[in-house]
Amino acid sequence: MPSISIAEELAKKQREISISEFFERNKQILGYDSPTKALLTAVKEAVDNSLDAANDADILPEISVEVRKTDKDEFRVLVEDNGPGIVKREVANVFGRLLYGSRFHSLRQSRGQQGLGISGAIMYGQVTTGKPALIRSRTEEMKDAAYEVELIIDTRRNKASVQREDFVAWDKPHGTRVEIPLKSRYVMGKQSPFEYLKATAIVNPHARIVYKPPEGEPIVFERATEELPPKTVEIKPHPYGIELGTFLAMAKETKSHKLSGFLAEEFSRISARVAKEICEKAGVPPETKPRSLDLQEAKAILDAIKSVKIMAPPTDCLSPIGEKLIKRGLKNVLGPLKPEFYSPPVTRDPAVWQGNPFQVEVGIVYGGDLPPDQPIEVLRFSNRVPLLYQAGACAIMQAVQAVDWRRYGLEQRGGEGLPFGPAIVLVHVGSVKVPYTSESKEAVAPIPEILEEIDLALKECGRRLKTHLTKKERRAKTREKFDIVQKILPRIAEKSAKIVGKKAPNLDATVTKIMGVIWIEESIAYDAKAKKHTVTIDLHNFTSAGKKFHLHALLPRSAKLGTLDPKPKEVREDGKVTWELKRINSVPGAPRPGQGGIRRVRAVRERDQRRTRDWGGAAARGLGTGLRRVRRVRGGAAARGGRGRDRLRRDGGGARG
Ligand SMILES: Nc1ncnc2c1ncn2[C@@H]1O[C@H](COP(=O)(O)OP(=O)(O)OP(=O)(O)O)[C@@H](O)[C@H]1O
Ligand SMILES: [Mg+2]
Repeated sequence: MPSISIAEELAKKQREISISEFFERNKQILGYDSPTKALLTAVKEAVDNSLDAANDADILPEISVEVRKTDKDEFRVLVEDNGPGIVKREVANVFGRLLYGSRFHSLRQSRGQQGLGISGAIMYGQVTTGKPALIRSRTEEMKDAAYEVELIIDTRRNKASVQREDFVAWDKPHGTRVEIPLKSRYVMGKQSPFEYLKATAIVNPHARIVYKPPEGEPIVFERATEELPPKTVEIKPHPYGIELGTFLAMAKETKSHKLSGFLAEEFSRISARVAKEICEKAGVPPETKPRSLDLQEAKAILDAIKSVKIMAPPTDCLSPIGEKLIKRGLKNVLGPLKPEFYSPPVTRDPAVWQGNPFQVEVGIVYGGDLPPDQPIEVLRFSNRVPLLYQAGACAIMQAVQAVDWRRYGLEQRGGEGLPFGPAIVLVHVGSVKVPYTSESKEAVAPIPEILEEIDLALKECGRRLKTHLTKKERRAKTREKFDIVQKILPRIAEKSAKIVGKKAPNLDATVTKIMGVIWIEESIAYDAKAKKHTVTIDLHNFTSAGKKFHLHALLPRSAKLGTLDPKPKEVREDGKVTWELKRINSVPGAPRPGQGGIRRVRAVRERDQRRTRDWGGAAARGLGTGLRRVRRVRGGAAARGGRGRDRLRRDGGGARG
């Protein structure tokens, strides 16, 4: 028998591991698994914090990001914001300790969750370069100067080791600036800082972001709105999602002396009455001291909670982007691709997963210069942060792949997997607690409740895309029929006339009879000087008889009407305009722009700074003859809701006789 047992040998080696030491060895958990990704992760952590801080302080964010190349494979990431700043005594803790932050214990939607982000980046930087990070911060209270500190993380003790500190002059009244040196590789493309910032700008249309890449000109993402996102309110945990261990820990820490008080005070939606009901069902007296609860009693209470009807958690802890701003954000950033259609975005009502409120939003962009023969692009977001890695493991991607997109007009082999077509699908999941698959927060875990909500939102937005595509197809088919009829009929007529030795007849009336449609054409002209849009609707009656028409058009919500010509019968609050048109005679032949006798409706819309690519449309129900031209002018003061340039939605559209 050995003099010392193996167990004793092993016991000598046992010792505590500090959090920092753990993450230093397991950098991949924090998103530092490759040099290329490291740069992106560092930028992301700093920018996420800047946006969170601005949000908390109700400040319109102004963020500058610079990636500077300092050596062959060494970079310096500089992120500066105009946020509230950090008080001097907290700077070293916030940046020099892992798992230190203000958001972990707070249940409301924010980008930060763990208190690991920025200190993780600093630790990666110091491990790979041996150099400290440089932080500068100024709060409104710091009268004359900003506090500046150079620090590294003492990984053994998980504490900041300050190398140098000072007060310096800074032209900013408040804000924070972080400089992190790190070993990395700079790449362009899908997973670059540029793409991350571009995507960030889409879901944070209220932020202005300036990016200086290592080479080339700075890029500016201007804000698309001055509207601040609604401030989120902190909530208490909802009892439906609580787990046994957490419940017992809370019971040990509570200041309440009675079980009923503990339940009512520390959980959301438990009233005194509901607390009593829970205690009764669980068979535990409401006067029980929470600290003295044993395992059996705690279990009984959790079981009772499940059987008692409790209201869903409040939802002001969430900060959805909203349909209007999703569209504006998409247009602001994707405008140069000239998409033909922005499917009206969908913001679902809030739902709950394990007691945590969450909300799903979806937007789809279609056509224009997007590649028609490649898989669609999926833009994934959680709590307004773009997710660029781990797509396969992400609930968002899985939900997109599970939809049968053939129903919504996209190509998809076998009705599953990523569809093909000129489309970008944006999905945003906002929650007080996003269930990420790892600490690097790159993918949303496929929780059934979340998958279902994403699925419903995708389908709702998909249906809106389908409506557009169906109308487009119908128009194209009608146009094709016109072309064919006009080419072939005259030839047949010519040949037959020759055979019987007669003159070829005029076929216009016959063409009209065969077509039997009301053709509606819309065009939009933008006058940049006057900041006015003029929308013209031409209506052609290609049916055999003259008819009277009701013409309906739907305006975007933010549009201000100018002059309308002719005068409409009704302009509704929701933007629906209806004209009762006079009799329009049947037109012989096919539609030609500028053709005489068309009924034309014209509208001018003012102060619309960007082009409106697609005037949603008009529908006409006919009763009469010919071809009529109506004119409608829309204008007036500034467009409601800012620089509104929401497109007009199609209302029925196409042509009905
Ligand atoms: N630019 C900033 N302005 C103001 N406060 C900041 C800034 N950056 C960080 N903080 C504060 O420092 C804390 C720690 O930041 P850190 O990124 O480490 O964690 P987090 O954002 O809370 O969570 P996560 O690990 O999910 O990013 C934050 O909770 C916030 O209170
Ligand atoms: Mg953070």
